[in-house]
Amino acid sequence: MFKGFVLGIILTIIVIGAVGYVVIVNGTIPAGAANSQPLPLEQWAARTSLQATLDHEAPKGPNPVQLTDANLIAGIGVYSRHCVFCHGTADGEPSPLAKGLYPPPPQLAKTGVEDEPEGWTVWKIQNGIRWSGMPSWEHVLNEQQVWQLALFLKHMDKLPPAPQQAWQQVKR
Ligand code: HEC
Repeated sequence: MFKGFVLGIILTIIVIGAVGYVVIVNGTIPAGAANSQPLPLEQWAARTSLQATLDHEAPKGPNPVQLTDANLIAGIGVYSRHCVFCHGTADGEPSPLAKGLYPPPPQLAKTGVEDEPEGWTVWKIQNGIRWSGMPSWEHVLNEQQVWQLALFLKHMDKLPPAPQQAWQQVKR
């Protein structure tokens, strides 16, 4: 009886493994294509694991960089050099890379991160996002620049006049 039970489990594992293998070698899961739709389970797995990591690792507490025009404009400057060709300008039109990259980079003027804690944004910028084109910037940007970016992204929809003018002038 117990032997049969164990055999049943082993057989089930072998069948699942075999089905998985056939699905992958036949390209049933479109792992190679950047222009196909995400599978529901794929999206769920990527989002859930990112969320759990953010809960553990993202810095908590307020932005160490002060909310001033100078810091907002500095953040906009970094954005225009390193982020605009994926995440777009103030007009919210899809950037060239947003049309072809999988998953597409969100156009931050339209679907931004104003509602998220700045620590999450800092974590995403420093570490990048696995299974996506979002690079890690830890070797390119220093701590202050990353927090200035987070400050700008947090206040993107409610910028004071001078930073707002700088943001409108950013071109892709
Ligand atoms: C090569 C393209 C590319 C570049 C350059 C890039 N990103 Fe991203 N970024 C992405 C992609 C793709 C995603 C979406 C990942 C996903 O689907 O989870 C993303 C996600 C994000 C998110 C999370 C958005 C959300 O709704 O959770 C933030 C914040 C972000 N990027 C900020 C930046 C900043 C700041 C820069 C510049 C320093 C930058 N990115 C440069 C591709 C890029």
